[in-house]
Amino acid sequence: QCNLDKAWLGTPIDELNRKPQCAPPLSHLKATPNHTVTVRTDLLREGEVPIPYPSKFRDVWDDLSVKMPCSEKNLFPLETEDGSGFQSRWELIHTALHKGFKSCLDVRDAILRYNTAHAKKWDFTALNLFCTEYLELCELQQLFEGILPDMVELALSAPRLCTMPIPLLKSGMNHSLTLSQEQIACLLANAFFCTFPRRNSRKSEYCNYPEINFYRLFEGSSPRKIEKLKTLLCYFRRVTETRPNGLVTFTRQALTSPPDWESSQTQLKRLHITCKGTIEDDGYGMLQVDFANRYVGGGVTGHGLVQEEIRFLINPELIVSRLFTEALEHNECLIITGTEQYSKYSGYAESYKWQKSYKDETPRDDWQRRCTEIVAIDAVKYRHFLEQFLPEKITRELNKAYCGFYRSNSNVKHLPAVATGNWGCGAFGGDTRLKALIQLMAAAEAGRDVAYFTFGDAQLMRDVHEMHTFLAERRVTVGQLYSLFIQYFNEECKNCRTTRPHVSLYSFIFEKVSAPAASNPEQDSRMSH
Ligand code: AR6
Repeated sequence: QCNLDKAWLGTPIDELNRKPQCAPPLSHLKATPNHTVTVRTDLLREGEVPIPYPSKFRDVWDDLSVKMPCSEKNLFPLETEDGSGFQSRWELIHTALHKGFKSCLDVRDAILRYNTAHAKKWDFTALNLFCTEYLELCELQQLFEGILPDMVELALSAPRLCTMPIPLLKSGMNHSLTLSQEQIACLLANAFFCTFPRRNSRKSEYCNYPEINFYRLFEGSSPRKIEKLKTLLCYFRRVTETRPNGLVTFTRQALTSPPDWESSQTQLKRLHITCKGTIEDDGYGMLQVDFANRYVGGGVTGHGLVQEEIRFLINPELIVSRLFTEALEHNECLIITGTEQYSKYSGYAESYKWQKSYKDETPRDDWQRRCTEIVAIDAVKYRHFLEQFLPEKITRELNKAYCGFYRSNSNVKHLPAVATGNWGCGAFGGDTRLKALIQLMAAAEAGRDVAYFTFGDAQLMRDVHEMHTFLAERRVTVGQLYSLFIQYFNEECKNCRTTRPHVSLYSFIFEKVSAPAASNPEQDSRMSH
């Protein structure tokens, strides 16, 4: 349905801003009260592995930082008769992982040595199937003689690599955290071996955080898990073969004063819309939208395998955000700059397949970060179609998208376009036509053009393009559009007795904008006075 001669409409994609070309040089990287940097910024050199800072492990165990597996405070009850006494859990992790693995059963046993409370519940069927049914003998050998031992070394180097306490990015905070890709690899190796303390139950102080330990990745017999394991082990193979030498920044951003949508005089910016291609392949250098869960990464370590989870699998450095990012509030987003893509995939959801290792050649910025900027914004999940037209829901989604797109202290001329698509319209059940307009409005308010990927839907491409052209020609403002949404809700949704309104949003807008007087007798009479 998406044929080649009309695969895109609107502004040619090459006319939209991309990084690095559109952006001015960055100021020197330095730590500030709002920006934690865990490496020596004075020694940062292109092509060299960044040096951790400080030089010695600073052990903290408090409510502001990630509780590290290598902390002295990470204790494990001794197996004494009266159950009294404790031993260092890190020492136990060391011993368990250093014993070496001959089969995946040894991996399971090692993980359960320091996670005894979960021995009965955790299930390693997927890991077992992966090793026994899906790998060739030589691959199995490579896994047990190369990748896994290297991952153990990487995990156990935590006190040498991750020396600075990692701040929790809590609800309401505006804070950035810059880690090296090597530090991230170390943290993810720990996540793989499930070493993070206090993260295995929903009842701990981390109940409002995503899961980080990978135990769900190993459970069940779904082919999805096999493909996930292939993708993640490709990442671990790559980073253990060659130490990655860049940085990644994670920024939690809260919107404190949202725009007054109703009175906005802003007009829509440019739109490129296509039914071919994807955000990650064709939106390089743009601000790429992650169709997120409020727990960032959603089901990436579990069963989920749609847009967000796939992105987290092919760019696994994204996964580490789950270690420190508290669930997003309505007015918050997480911006991740600098992650690298390590895998190519095919298919989607049930048909997802890891295809091959991928060498990411995206240029780096002055802070040694790949010019890949991803923003996690979580849409609202709708059970009933009509719900999303409630004015408070529309405002919520506008503010969420705006929070993701807006950058303070930035000249809008230098902002890359937004690369997005059917945000909130798959697993979350939203209406693509409404969400496209919402995103166009939020982008306009933030001063950005939009590249929209309809993911194969040619009709959607034509409809949104037609609407955008119509609104642009008539210079309809964001405020007018917002008022039309409210009017649509009042006239077509509020008293609607069927699951969907009789008049579609787009027909309603076309009609009201084309002939406002004729279709609105009240306004008509007002105007004749
Ligand atoms: N590029 C462009 N469009 C895409 C791509 C892509 N790579 N992948 C998918 N689409 P969905 P949601 C289109 O369901 O509704 C996750 O579990 C495709 O048309 O992932 O916001 C999160 O963790 C697809 O139907 O996003 C959340 O829990 C549509 O985008 C939840 O799903 C929506 O993708 C979010 O669900």
